[in-house]
Amino acid sequence: TNGMMIPNYSSLDDYDRHNALGNTQYGQMTAGSYMYIGPQGIVHGTTITILNAKRIITERFGKNPDEPVLFVSSGLGGMSGAQPKAGNIAGVVSVVAEVNPKAAKKRHEQGWVDVLIDNIDDLTQAVKKALAEHKVVSFGYIGNVIDVWEKFDEENIKIDLGSDQTSLHNPFNGGYYPIGLSFEEANEMMAANPEQFKSYVYESLRRQVAAINKHTAKGTYFFDYGNAFLLESSRAGADIMNGDKFRYPSYVEDIMGPFCFDYGFGPFRWVCTSGKPEDLAKTDAIATQVLENLKQTAPKRIQQQMADNIQWIKGAQDNHLVVGSQARILYADAWGRIKIAEAFNEAIRNGELSGPVVLGRDHHDVSGTDSPFRETSNIYDGSMFTADMAIQNVIGDSFRGATWVSIHNGGGVGWGEVVNGGFGMLLDGSDDADRRLKQMLYWDVNNGIARRSWARNDNAMFTIERAMAENPHLKVTKPNLVDDHLIDNLF
Ligand SMILES: NC(=O)c1ccc[n+]([C@@H]2O[C@H](COP(=O)([O-])OP(=O)(O)OC[C@H]3O[C@@H](n4cnc5c(N)ncnc54)[C@H](O)[C@@H]3O)[C@@H](O)[C@H]2O)c1
Repeated sequence: TNGMMIPNYSSLDDYDRHNALGNTQYGQMTAGSYMYIGPQGIVHGTTITILNAKRIITERFGKNPDEPVLFVSSGLGGMSGAQPKAGNIAGVVSVVAEVNPKAAKKRHEQGWVDVLIDNIDDLTQAVKKALAEHKVVSFGYIGNVIDVWEKFDEENIKIDLGSDQTSLHNPFNGGYYPIGLSFEEANEMMAANPEQFKSYVYESLRRQVAAINKHTAKGTYFFDYGNAFLLESSRAGADIMNGDKFRYPSYVEDIMGPFCFDYGFGPFRWVCTSGKPEDLAKTDAIATQVLENLKQTAPKRIQQQMADNIQWIKGAQDNHLVVGSQARILYADAWGRIKIAEAFNEAIRNGELSGPVVLGRDHHDVSGTDSPFRETSNIYDGSMFTADMAIQNVIGDSFRGATWVSIHNGGGVGWGEVVNGGFGMLLDGSDDADRRLKQMLYWDVNNGIARRSWARNDNAMFTIERAMAENPHLKVTKPNLVDDHLIDNLF
C-alpha cells in the first residue's frame, strides 16, 4: 500500500507533514503496483482518446472527417510527452506547449515530437502551413501554453480539439508554471515565496481559462485530460463553472467512460518475463488473433473499440513503444482479457513462449480506481465520492488468485482525491494459472461494470446483462429505471 491514511488526515497539509516525518509517501499508481511499462500505456490511452475525440467532433460539431484536425495541449513531461506521438498515430496536427526546454528537447530527441519551435510567430506560420497542406505533424512549442491559446485566438486559427496536461495535481510545487515568469524565476519564487507563487498560478489559470473559453465559443471541443485542470481552475476562481458543474467534460465523462469503461474495455497489459523481443512479438500475434476471432461475433456497439485495438496491436512493433521490459498494452473487455490470457497460458504450456508472462493493468480502468474527477467521473448517481469499488476490487482480486495486489491514495489527481488499486498475475502455463486467470479477470472487470450499471450508465447495463446471459451464476441487481418526467412531476 501507499499513502493510505485515516480519511480525516488526508489533506494536502497532512501529506506535507507526514511525508516530511517519513511516515508516508506519494506512491502514484502504476509504479506503486510494480508494473511500470514505460510510456507505452499513456501513448495507447492518448491515441484512443484522440481517435474517439475526432469522432465526437464529427458527430456533434459537424466536422468534415476529411479536413485536417488541430489538437492543442500542454506538457512534454513524463506522461504528457505522449501527446504528440499519439497525435501522429491518430492522424492530427498537434501543438503541445512545454515551458521546460530540457523536457521538450528530450522528447524531440526520442522522436516523440517532430518539430520544436520557441517563437510564437514561427509556430503560427508553421501550423497554418501544415493545416493547409493536410500534413500529419506534431509541434512542440517551447513556452507557456497560454501564449498558444491567446495567439491562436488573435490569428483566428481554429483549434478542433483542446486539452491540458500540465501537472495540476501538484499545482504549487512545479506542476504548473504561471505566465509572466521565466522558468527559472518561477522555480525561485516557489521556494522563496510560496504564497506569492500560488497567487501567480491562480492568476494564470484564470487567464488560460478565459482564452480557452474564447476558442470553445468558436467551436473548439475542450476536455480535461485527467490532470485536475478543471478542479484547480475552479479553485482559482476561473470562469469554468456552469452552475454547479464544470463547463467542460473530463475525457472520462465524454470519451473513456461511455466508449470504453462502461463496456469493460480497459488497459490490459502484460510483460514477457523472458525479456525476449521474439516472445513479445509472439504474444502480439496471439492477442491479434484472439481479438479478430472475438470481433466476428461481438455486439455491433463494441466493434469500433475492438477495431481500434486490433489496429493498435498490429502497429505496435512499428511504433517502437518498448522501453525496458518486453511489455505491451491494449484495451480489451472481460471476454477479450480472459481469452487472451488463456491463449498466453496455453502458449507457455506448449513451449511456444519461452517463459512466463505477467499480466497487469493500470489504474485507468473500469473497476480498480475510485476517482471522482477522473476514472469514475461518468458515474452520476452520487456514488462517485465513495471508494468502496477500489477496495472491493483489490480484496476480490487477491482471493481470486492475483499474484500481488496494491492499493494507493492520491495517484495522478492528487493526494486525498483518489483511491486506486492494481494487481499482477503470473501465468506459468499451469492448470492452476488457467483457473486463477478466469476467476480473477472476470471479477476484476465485472465488479466495475456492476457498479456502473447501478449508476444507470446505459452501456454498462447492456454489458452486465450480456455477462449474466452468458453466466447463469452471475446475479447483479439491476437499477429500476423511472421516467424522468414522472419524478419531476412529483416535486
Ligand atoms: N489522462 C491520463 O491518462 C493521464 C495519465 C498520466 C498522467 N496524467 C496527468 O497528467 C499530468 C501530467 O503528467 P506528467 O507525468 O506528464 O507530468 P510532468 O510534470 O512530467 O509534465 C508536465 C509538464 O508540463 C509542463 N508545464 C507546466 N506548466 C506549464 C505551462 N503553463 N505551459 C507549458 N508547459 C507547462 C512542465 O514543465 C512539465 O514538463 C499529471 O497531472 C498527471 O496526473 C493523466
